[in-house]
Amino acid sequence: MMNWNAELYDKKHKFVSNFGEDLVSLLHPQRGEHILDVGCGTGDLAYEISKSGATVTGIDAAQSMIEAAQEKYPHMHFSVQDGESFSFEPQFHAVFSNAAIHWMKNQQKVVQNCFDALLPTGRFVAELGGANNIQSIVEAMKTTSDRLSILYDETLFPWVFPTKDEMSKHLENAGFTMITIKHYERPTPLVGEEGLRNWLEMFSNHMFNHLTNDEKEALYSECERILRPQLYKENGWVADYWRIRFIAQKP
Ligand code: BEZ
Repeated sequence: MMNWNAELYDKKHKFVSNFGEDLVSLLHPQRGEHILDVGCGTGDLAYEISKSGATVTGIDAAQSMIEAAQEKYPHMHFSVQDGESFSFEPQFHAVFSNAAIHWMKNQQKVVQNCFDALLPTGRFVAELGGANNIQSIVEAMKTTSDRLSILYDETLFPWVFPTKDEMSKHLENAGFTMITIKHYERPTPLVGEEGLRNWLEMFSNHMFNHLTNDEKEALYSECERILRPQLYKENGWVADYWRIRFIAQKP
């Protein structure tokens, strides 16, 4: 199980939910609907959805995230549940997920769990990192590990970034009818001079937990040096994000 620093996430990675706001528009939640948010993090988008008058349940595998969500939004319902193993009777009008499914290894199972939780004609609206996502950052982490003789353990790589075909297959295998799916490049600004370093500190920690603080510092500095020509633009760091976004429907 990964450790998530909910406070750091809210302080320095707010862009994750800011970008998700137009996904909420696509979800188009309605008063009276029951909606499940899979991988809800600290609950900001679940709260956005609930402003429509829909009743939202947020689930996340990380207890620290759910505790933070519950503290911020005490009137809402959150619970610690893993995307690969949760199970609900069919009761939701919609399932929503932003920037979460790429943290889940068995995406076929996740999609099946979402299908099973939906009422007939329910919709599944989601976005996740797709093929090519953060390719230059991953390459830089590998090159740096090599140069600094740091162990880079592929088995700890926490993400799966599917192609559009792979995600379409998961959805169709589960029984969904595809409404729309697209794979697109979405350069993502990382706020401030320290943007890339903050990103590495928050998200690569799962792979580099075995390092001392000094070793981590060296890793971050070398990644910055390697990536500056490619990812440092006029207004600061911009990560090479690619997304898969889809709407699918249960028949
Ligand atoms: C993403 O949203 O694409 C992402 C975030 C953190 C780590 C890896 C990918």
